Amino acid sequence: MAKDTTRFVCQSCGAVYPRWLGRCTTCNAWNSLVEEAAPRASAGKGRPPAKAGAAKPIGEIPADDVVARHQTGIAELDRVLGGGAVMGSVTLLGGDPGVGKSTLLMQALSGLARKGKRCLYVSGEESAGQTAARAKRIGAPEDHLYVLAESDLGVTLDVMRELEPVAVVIDSVQTVRAPELESAAGTVSQLREVAARLVDKSKRDGVTTFLVGHVTKDGSLAGPKVLEHVVDTVLAFEGERGQAFRTLRAQKNRFGSATEVGVFEMTQGGMREVPNPSALFLAERPRGASGSVVCATSEGSRPMLVEVQALVSRTGGGAGRRTATGTDAARLAMILAVLERKCGLELAASDVFVNVAGGLRVDEPAVDLAVALAVASSARDRPLDPSLVAFGEIGLAGEVRSVARAEARAAEARAMGFTTLIAPDTTRTVAEALRRTDLIR
Ligand code: TYD
Ligand code: MG
Repeated sequence: MAKDTTRFVCQSCGAVYPRWLGRCTTCNAWNSLVEEAAPRASAGKGRPPAKAGAAKPIGEIPADDVVARHQTGIAELDRVLGGGAVMGSVTLLGGDPGVGKSTLLMQALSGLARKGKRCLYVSGEESAGQTAARAKRIGAPEDHLYVLAESDLGVTLDVMRELEPVAVVIDSVQTVRAPELESAAGTVSQLREVAARLVDKSKRDGVTTFLVGHVTKDGSLAGPKVLEHVVDTVLAFEGERGQAFRTLRAQKNRFGSATEVGVFEMTQGGMREVPNPSALFLAERPRGASGSVVCATSEGSRPMLVEVQALVSRTGGGAGRRTATGTDAARLAMILAVLERKCGLELAASDVFVNVAGGLRVDEPAVDLAVALAVASSARDRPLDPSLVAFGEIGLAGEVRSVARAEARAAEARAMGFTTLIAPDTTRTVAEALRRTDLIR
């Protein structure tokens, strides 16, 4: 029977194998299989019989359409969460080390504690003293905010039972361990167990729970495909190295839109909200330089102006390189093909670099038209009118397609002092956009 006591679990997707393999055949990750103790075969036994009539016709069930929320007082965070942190919800916050996850969540708990709500910060990574030092730095209140340096799940749950906090941060979920399982902290079986028990606790007692999750080098949450399914909300905290500002995005949200973006700036005293990100992203825009175009993006409910930059330069020989930073590389290839075939621009023998200034990521197709204009402007070495804003999706036929929230984008552009708009309702094709800006005849 000893054969069945261990199994091999892919740490990237959670697939289970009876023996070790060099590569997971489910998600193709290399060297991702780790030997773990098999769960005891007791599942299902000893379960009480289901009550008769447990299922009800849908019309007889009162709908939970009004969810109770806690306002953390950090407006950007509350907005990304869908209007505050839902009571009894579990939110996973992922991000690179050093991006500011601990800082942001300590500020969120501080906001709640300041309103007299009891909060618990559980740190498996840092000592209570280190956590307290961070709390001081961001000006946390002295009362109602408790710190526990612990990595044992059982102890953590005991403390929660005794303290009855309304909100808890687990920093990080990868460092917490259920001692009943033999596998190491951070393995898939541990993550699954730890998350399941915290979710259960959160739902049962209405505790608002935040889990901090580490991110691997390729930007995915380490291990937790498993986690993403059990939590209510997944937030990604991102920022470029050496840049002070950070974006917070909802990737999944059972209680709100999954397209909201919050913007923060890391300061000496913690994360500061950026209520007017357009001004921040445009602050260092070069005036009168070719290859620079302002785009009105709108991921989520708030429009934002960002600067799209392009640099087109002749290669020494051979096919040109294409590099996209902050936008989609596959869409860049498509846009370049449209510029060549539909607008007569010669780009094959050039390197093309496209960058969203300030380290922001823009994933929506509405950025296409700004990318096309920036590339054409650099290729022709002709600066565009500095009061111009562009947005619109580009189709394979070279047409400019309409995008969501066009009016809100235009309004943001006007509010920031831009007077010329190149947008889907006035511009039907990419060639027309280039003619209007004198980039082609
Ligand atoms: P931290 O919240 O520890 O990041 P994470 O939990 O995501 O790893 O913050 C990391 C960095 O932020 C750290 O290098 C110090 C810096 N920092 C500030 O600039 N200002 C502050 O007020 C705090 C608390 C940290
Ligand atoms: Mg941390």
